[in-house]
Amino acid sequence: MGGGRIVAGCLAPHPPHLVYAENPPQNEPSSEGGWEQLRWGYDRLRASLAEVDHDVVVILSPHWQTYVGTHLLGLEQFEGFSVDPVFPNLFRYTYDLTIDLDLAEGIHAEALAAGLDAHMMRNPDFRVDYGTITTAHLTDPEWSKPLVVISSNRSRHYYSVEVMQEMMAELGRATKKAIEASGKRAVVLASNSLSHRHFTTEPEVPEDMSHEHITSHAMHLWDMRIIDHMVNGRTKQLLDEMPEFTDQAIAETDGGALTWLLHALDLPEYKATLHGYGTVIGTGNAVVEWPAWRHQEGSA
Ligand SMILES: [Fe+2]
Repeated sequence: MGGGRIVAGCLAPHPPHLVYAENPPQNEPSSEGGWEQLRWGYDRLRASLAEVDHDVVVILSPHWQTYVGTHLLGLEQFEGFSVDPVFPNLFRYTYDLTIDLDLAEGIHAEALAAGLDAHMMRNPDFRVDYGTITTAHLTDPEWSKPLVVISSNRSRHYYSVEVMQEMMAELGRATKKAIEASGKRAVVLASNSLSHRHFTTEPEVPEDMSHEHITSHAMHLWDMRIIDHMVNGRTKQLLDEMPEFTDQAIAETDGGALTWLLHALDLPEYKATLHGYGTVIGTGNAVVEWPAWRHQEGSA
């Protein structure tokens, strides 16, 4: 085969509040809205992705945490009921998702060939994490594309951010290689927030936006700095600053998704598009797209 490529890469965070606020039929609780700036950001991301043909969506979620290597969903279908353990009042979602098993196997094989530890998750009763489900839903509420779902190897916790970066760089390159060999056009999603210090209590009405703001000025400054790197094509500087950002902003980049994405995109020097930014229980969240297809020869 060959001829496949990543047509777009996105930072696509997964606060379950955003699904709750949209009131889709799959989610049990109902809301009066909320977090509109971020949801409008997702509207703009969906409109942008609708312009580019793609066959598959590849997601790395910080909430599928594996301590022995990287795991990939390894059956053609997973269905079940997902409850956010921290916000069971907001997220109780019935899911039914389809996996692109060929591409998942391809990434698994490339990861092994690169010297990484990797495994296929073949348990039909495995409960898919809410990060994957939320990011997949917000990016494509119709669930119209098959997914590849990749776990977050917690090398940050065993070792350091630097070791995490090395391993996720390798996994990003392996992901890119497997997509190119597959002949498919892929959208690749890093499912994480930026600064991740959050409030420990919730207002009586969770969607009461008069309570919603960033937890501290320091968190705001870090988020704006990282966004500024993204929208000005300073990927290498962003990666250089990732250890400090991850430590000081308690950032959800600790799961490796953003590092993985930037390497799968081959360290883009073009400007990313910021579709939206907003806080959720005080954490910083940006919806960002790297429109790779606009920078590839012969693309349309
Ligand atoms: Fe999270």
